[in-house]
Amino acid sequence: MEQTSKRDWYKEMSFYQIWVRSFADGNGDGIGDLYGVYDKLEYVKSLGVDGIWFSPIYPSPNADFGYDISDYKDIHPDFGDLDQFKKVLKKAHELGLKVIMDLVVNHTSDEHPWFIESRKGKDNPYSDYYIWRDKPNNWDSLFEGKAWEYDEQRGQYYLHIFAKKQPDLNMDNPKVREEVKDIMRFWLDMGVDGFREDVINFISKREGLPNGLPILPAAKGMSHYKDGPHIHEYLSEFRKVCEEYDCFQLGEGPMTTVKSAMNYLTGPTKSLDMMFSFDHMMADCFMTEYMHRPFSLVKLKKALTKWQKALEGKGWNALYMENHDHPRIISRYGSEHLWRESGTMLAACYIFLQGTPFVYQGQEIGMTNIRLMSIDQYVDVSSITNYHTYHLKEDPERRLHRIHLSSRDSARTPMQWNPGANAGFSNVKPWFYVNPNYKRVNVESEEKDPASILNFYRKCLSLRKSSKTLLYGTYNEFYPKNPNIYMYERCLDDEAYLVICSFSRLPVKPKKPEKFRGKRGELVLCNYEQTHKLFRPFETRVYRYKL
Ligand code: NOJ
Repeated sequence: MEQTSKRDWYKEMSFYQIWVRSFADGNGDGIGDLYGVYDKLEYVKSLGVDGIWFSPIYPSPNADFGYDISDYKDIHPDFGDLDQFKKVLKKAHELGLKVIMDLVVNHTSDEHPWFIESRKGKDNPYSDYYIWRDKPNNWDSLFEGKAWEYDEQRGQYYLHIFAKKQPDLNMDNPKVREEVKDIMRFWLDMGVDGFREDVINFISKREGLPNGLPILPAAKGMSHYKDGPHIHEYLSEFRKVCEEYDCFQLGEGPMTTVKSAMNYLTGPTKSLDMMFSFDHMMADCFMTEYMHRPFSLVKLKKALTKWQKALEGKGWNALYMENHDHPRIISRYGSEHLWRESGTMLAACYIFLQGTPFVYQGQEIGMTNIRLMSIDQYVDVSSITNYHTYHLKEDPERRLHRIHLSSRDSARTPMQWNPGANAGFSNVKPWFYVNPNYKRVNVESEEKDPASILNFYRKCLSLRKSSKTLLYGTYNEFYPKNPNIYMYERCLDDEAYLVICSFSRLPVKPKKPEKFRGKRGELVLCNYEQTHKLFRPFETRVYRYKL
């Protein structure tokens, strides 16, 4: 058994991410909630996952759908209350599911009591909880124009790296760090098992807040608050809290390089168990709203391989292809016409990498992007800003098309449970548009079909868990320059798995790597009923070899 310390339990697990507002409405108001989650826990368990990550479920004015928190120690009334959360937690634990919460401490809502106090003036006890200046520097925000907003009441500017309603906390203030630790203890004492830490590499800003580069191109402007001077010191304080419990920490690291990730994940500054990296999200359209490029499989593979090799034997990867911030992968990397084929292949292409896989709600049934008719129908702050800010010379239809390709709202349409009214998400009109494909793409129909995307996810997750080689084996990629095929092996002792994924819409014939020629592998997984000489569109196969 490779698991050495008690904190390593996450390595053999896989997680399911729930964005509660769109998961299941249990109390009939059109909004997903913890009553709905409670009823669906058996479904989550049936996928073969071992844990749940909840995107923020705390009180929030929803300027950024929960990532603008106005109370860290309560539940948003739309979702239920603390008692209901405790019921969910208890049942999840009874089912053997761990629960991790989203810890969003780079910023709060401007409606958080700390900010309401802080803006009252320099003498207020909360004065230094945020970052105030008489004169702004030149930083750009990621969501709404410049990163500084003038506050009439205080007579100063405050920093917001995200939306105007998300003022950045001043982590250099020890009191703020004590608050963070207090929040962590609050949830850990209740029994939660860890945290996904939002934009955690942004919490320590450059000393003196010097002017920086513009955010574009390639998000260069982030360097003024990314991996800042005190980041490891602050994270080690948070780590100590986690060490009092059997908990684990997963950091979101926008634009983290492998090199800096190693400092978070290994060695004396280790403060996180895993990190969500963004490299592979750049293969087509991270921030597509303004940088959209055609999808390149070669880039995707390069990014995945870079992280697999760098962390091998040293750290541990967090594997994901979808979450609440990105459009749906079938629409991005696959094909809506070859929906089942590409949806199944995209599961296999990442679940067998080394690391802990995360599956985002709806990904397991192959939900796809929604196309709304007007920008006014979109609700995500970044999609709206981008539409009104970039590519203004293009005609509105073309700009709307960019939003279709890239909006976070595509990940946030109501979960499609059945082919009935409102896709079975709610008895009443849901808070957001249901994707019109719900009659075909839904849990109930896919449960009945052994060849469905849903059942393929189950097969992949269970195969991964059943094999020490797939869990702990080494990774090696073949033919990295091939624009159609992603092929890699996982090896442990005398066993190897060969994973072959075709990203092509046409039949292709991948070459067997030298080392496997003349050897007979056992086909353990395939997304077509029968194999032929050629790989059909989006075909995936996994072979097991005794070496
Ligand atoms: C990353 C989260 O995943 C995203 O949804 C959010 O908008 C930003 N951080 C700001 O909190």
